[in-house]
Amino acid sequence: MTVVIAAINGKGGAGKTTALMNIAGEYALRGGHVAMIDMDARNNLMKWWTDCQEKDAQPEGIEVYSHKTARGLERWMMDNANAFDHVLIDTPGEDTSIVDPVIAAADLVISPIQPSKREVLGAIDSFENVLRVNEALGKACRHGVLRTRITVTVRHTELYRKIRPIIEDTVKTYLFRTEVFERNVYKDIHNGIGTLQMQEVTDAIAKARRETQALVAEVDQLLANEAATGRAA
Ligand SMILES: Nc1ncnc2c1ncn2[C@@H]1O[C@H](COP(=O)(O)OP(=O)(O)O)[C@@H](O)[C@H]1O
Ligand SMILES: [Mg+2]
Repeated sequence: MTVVIAAINGKGGAGKTTALMNIAGEYALRGGHVAMIDMDARNNLMKWWTDCQEKDAQPEGIEVYSHKTARGLERWMMDNANAFDHVLIDTPGEDTSIVDPVIAAADLVISPIQPSKREVLGAIDSFENVLRVNEALGKACRHGVLRTRITVTVRHTELYRKIRPIIEDTVKTYLFRTEVFERNVYKDIHNGIGTLQMQEVTDAIAKARRETQALVAEVDQLLANEAATGRAA
């Protein structure tokens, strides 16, 4: 069965593309056949892909496609999704009409946030959209909020401390235990040097790899857990 994961936060630029690149790299490393779909007009994912090609650093097991419309996505999914173990959909950082069709195609929506009020609100909106599409289509797409660009300093802020109670207790969606820390390597991989998993293992890379493995383990767990669907009582 093909697993479809989308990164959505209509009010943020805190790491959708980066998270998907890292997750894709992990699945590919395990021998999975991964498709990534760039639905963002800024084409960051596609640019990364072509840069990787130019630098002869294209990751094995990953293919990147560009579709900017719901129609394009639907057609691609119908004709091609079966050929892949994982399809990862990257979306724009603003609310657009493609959000509902992406959720309709997805098994899991990840909403990355850096600790800013705007991005937390964007993640809550994304969860509401998942609930609405689930209800309308009778499906069970999961949702999780991923804290990104975390630093020691950020962890001392009031907003950071409020994230867990807001997301888990008030909004009642899933908060990933794994946090994506602010790391230079996550910036570097945007420069067409392939995936995180292709980099020579230094201490810094090893930390990022462990973080990503923990994230993917949580993603797999969430996908396996039917009960994680919808708003808990
Ligand atoms: N965990 C991180 N550590 C350091 N830099 C990051 C991290 N996540 C993202 N970035 C940087 O922030 C920029 C925006 O991240 P990106 O994944 O493109 O966000 P989005 O796709 O949500 O717009 C990237 O170019 C990258 O350099
Ligand atoms: Mg992006």
